[in-house]
Amino acid sequence: MSGRSVEQSWELHHRAVGVTPMATQTHSKAPRPALREVEPCFLVRGEGCRVWDVDGNQYIDFRNGLGPISLGYAYPSVNEAIAKQLQDGVVFSYAHPLEVEVAERLTEIIPCAEKVRFLKTGGEAMAAAHRLARGFTGRDHILTCGYHGWVNSMREGVPAATKSTYTALPWGNVDAFQTAIDAQGADDIAAISVACDYAEIEQGHQFLPALRAMCDRIGALLIFDEIVTGFRLRRAGAQEYFDVTPDLAVFAKGISNGVPLSVYLGRADVMDAVKSVVISSTFGGDTLGLAAASAVLDVYEQEDVIGTLWARGQQLHTGFGELAERHGVDAGFSGLPPVGLLRLPTTEDRVRFEGECLRQGVITFSVYYPSYSHSEADIDEALEALGRAVQQLKNPTA
Ligand SMILES: Cc1ncc(COP(=O)(O)O)c(C=O)c1O
Repeated sequence: MSGRSVEQSWELHHRAVGVTPMATQTHSKAPRPALREVEPCFLVRGEGCRVWDVDGNQYIDFRNGLGPISLGYAYPSVNEAIAKQLQDGVVFSYAHPLEVEVAERLTEIIPCAEKVRFLKTGGEAMAAAHRLARGFTGRDHILTCGYHGWVNSMREGVPAATKSTYTALPWGNVDAFQTAIDAQGADDIAAISVACDYAEIEQGHQFLPALRAMCDRIGALLIFDEIVTGFRLRRAGAQEYFDVTPDLAVFAKGISNGVPLSVYLGRADVMDAVKSVVISSTFGGDTLGLAAASAVLDVYEQEDVIGTLWARGQQLHTGFGELAERHGVDAGFSGLPPVGLLRLPTTEDRVRFEGECLRQGVITFSVYYPSYSHSEADIDEALEALGRAVQQLKNPTA
């Protein structure tokens, strides 16, 4: 694996900087100057669990497009479904039957889903859920937990008046939610909107039922952001794994194996408020996303995708734990196997570790997403590379 060159990647990066702020549309994809010698800024092809960069280097990928590649790159049955649909058209002047078919299938497998609607990105669908909650309850304030996409991030550029209608609170801390409710006034809380924290996800067994009870008590809606947990932890995500049914939920990423599609769904009476709230998009319900989702649903129905994601993730977590112990490095995975978070001693260690992984042909991220296409042998191969990277942390000259 030595002798890799990423020259073409960085030449393209240089050009991109001239026309694209950050040289990418997605902050987490921005290459790191410290990894100038090894980081592939541009990928051009994927197949199964592997991707190729513009210089022709091959990698085993655990970023998986930052989560959406649930089955694997260029998964044959999904590709066939998209190609077939493409012949007939992508967006029409009236609704397409796939909108009904996929919605019906989702109501069958997702506990909270009585009615379903489609959009294109996760953050947009979360914004729709928040808007619906406000429209339905007639209340303004939303208590949030976790990242819900840039549209809902109360950063620079958001009016103070809008910021004042959100309170961001920590995962697992029921008291913090109660304090915020007391401070804000229960009558002003439209919803509690929560995305799981991967490292401490098992706290969900206590935390999520407590939020459910809290919402019921104050007449607020409970919204689950299942953008990552859906089609990964379980098909129906955290609500299935923790057995807590929210009023609304949002799915994206894994549901369509990388073809842009997001879904907001939930209680019929709340969802029916879209008419007066007005949530409407030209590209909501495009046929390529839905054809992909239909093919993905078939695979999840016919094969043990979820079991495989857990098994491969567990193999990775256990194998890495043994490597770290053998090399005397205080590092390891926390969280559950389909969405594990790698803990390394320091930030500098992370950059060095990830650089060495790239040099060894493995793309990593803070969260490691196994896909259905990672075989046991692929995980073993990746572990060899990760082992060399751990060894380098302990002994940089080895
Ligand atoms: C939990 C969670 N919610 C929301 C989002 C936003 O989704 P999108 O980037 O499709 O807008 C993400 C994206 O990473 C996410 O991980």
